[in-house]
Amino acid sequence: MAQKSPLDRLKDLNAQAQLGGGQARIDAQHAKGKLTARERIELFVDPSSFVEIGRLVEHRSTLFGLDQQKFLGDGVVTGYGLVDSRKVFVFAQDFTVLGGSLAEAHAQKICRIMDLAMDNGVPVIGLNDSGGARIQEGVVSLGGYADIFYRNTRASGVIPQLSAILGPCAGGAVYSPALTDFIGMVEGSSYMFVTGPNVVKTVTHEVVTSEELGGAFTHASKSGVTHFTYPNERELLDGFRTLLSYLPQNCQELPPRWDYTPSDESRPALDTVIPENANAPYDMRAVIDGLVDDASFFEVHREFAENIVVGFARLGGRSIGIVANQPAFLAGVLDIKSSQKAARFVRFCDAFNIPLLVLEDVPGFLPGTDQEWNAIITNGAKLLYAFAEATVPRITVITRKAYGGAYDVMNSKHIGADLNFAWPTAEIAVMGAKGAAEIIFKKEIEASSNPAETWAQKEAEYAEAFANPYGAAARGYVDEVILPSQTRIRLLEAFSLLENKAVKNPRKKHGNGPL
Ligand code: HXC
Repeated sequence: MAQKSPLDRLKDLNAQAQLGGGQARIDAQHAKGKLTARERIELFVDPSSFVEIGRLVEHRSTLFGLDQQKFLGDGVVTGYGLVDSRKVFVFAQDFTVLGGSLAEAHAQKICRIMDLAMDNGVPVIGLNDSGGARIQEGVVSLGGYADIFYRNTRASGVIPQLSAILGPCAGGAVYSPALTDFIGMVEGSSYMFVTGPNVVKTVTHEVVTSEELGGAFTHASKSGVTHFTYPNERELLDGFRTLLSYLPQNCQELPPRWDYTPSDESRPALDTVIPENANAPYDMRAVIDGLVDDASFFEVHREFAENIVVGFARLGGRSIGIVANQPAFLAGVLDIKSSQKAARFVRFCDAFNIPLLVLEDVPGFLPGTDQEWNAIITNGAKLLYAFAEATVPRITVITRKAYGGAYDVMNSKHIGADLNFAWPTAEIAVMGAKGAAEIIFKKEIEASSNPAETWAQKEAEYAEAFANPYGAAARGYVDEVILPSQTRIRLLEAFSLLENKAVKNPRKKHGNGPL
């Protein structure tokens, strides 16, 4: 047989690599409503910007029939490209090759782009679709995972790391995403579990579907493992592009600044957002939308711990991170999950130089055995620690309640906030007036001929003294009491004032926060 020319040989190899596990498996992937690894990358990066690395890498094991097949690329496409003209490194696991399972060469390819990303200060985006450790390669696969976990951890806080889950991800395939900054899942087609439904049934006798055990809804609302869910892969990839638009390339940079033309910055609608009844709920998202640049709020963890709202936004073209109590859900109380959610978000913003805006309306920590036995003490302390440690510009606006320990935790002046404002509707006290009156006027109420009337009277006295922002303002705990309609103007000025803030924590190896 005539030998192929070097050019033809390369063409053949490239065509073979392009096909991954073969056309039949690509068709099967499409039949499930899923895209291939290469299609996903093309959709994610700017057109024609992707440059592949390691296209001709081969798998190493020859056991269990793997000597009969050769899959160029070893089940993962790796390389770099542009998103909105900014560099990104990407890897996309190819489910058509041995279920996207991870083996020695596959892991080395991922490690290679992670090393390049770290050396060059560029985000890494993983498009995961993998059955976990390649069973045929044994311990080498486990070692490959550990090599990636090690790099994920070292890259944490240095470069943003995003993980898209685009299929069934099992075993080791879930731990690398868990070490990254943000996870996104697709409803109905992506799953994450350490052990799948069959193993669960064998070990615990529980009968559970993949969807219930580790589907997008489960991880968005129950476990909080995923930060985002989308109805399809295209929207997820688009969402990740938007997410990147708020972030710097690495921890040495500031986030990108968008053009902004100032106009009338007062927001009269905010003057009526707080209900007359101090216990009535309102949606804090209306306050957020009223304060930030038009339609710029990009919410994170929307379905998880809904009593706190976190996300990115722009204010005068600058990226900011928002942490806001949500009075429309559980009265905005702080509990275990909301503390965990907010703490992680605060730490991300602090690591990547994104200033923080806190909107506070919190009646305190949630009482009860469930919370105490599951360590609300430790978990609430996570949020306290995260705020106290953060050195980025930090501003708080108290819209209504700032009660008890939650007043301290929610970015109070005492734990290092730079500027604190309150609306005239703010109530800054150890607790609500009713409970306070019951405790401190217990004897008077009991001795009274009309206890209910006395209680109401004492409650009114306490409210008069404390259900306002002026006690805190008199001590300088609040810098200024401002009108809701003028808040955007004050925030634009304040974040501009703080833009060169340079504060460092005491020298240490690392802190020992309540993980
Ligand atoms: C080798 C694998 C594989 C794996 C799937 N395949 N997972 N090959 N190693 N881990 C292969 C299948 O044999 C099949 O090949 C092809 O990929 C597609 O898989 P299907 O099962 O047909 O697809 P589907 O029905 O969609 O199910 C996907 C799945 C399932 C849910 C991922 O394949 C599965 O449960 N796989 C095993 C998951 C697992 O237990 N992984 C090991 C975890 S241990 P053919 O040729 O038949 O089409 C682990 C330890 C790391 O990861 C720990 C680090 C902390």
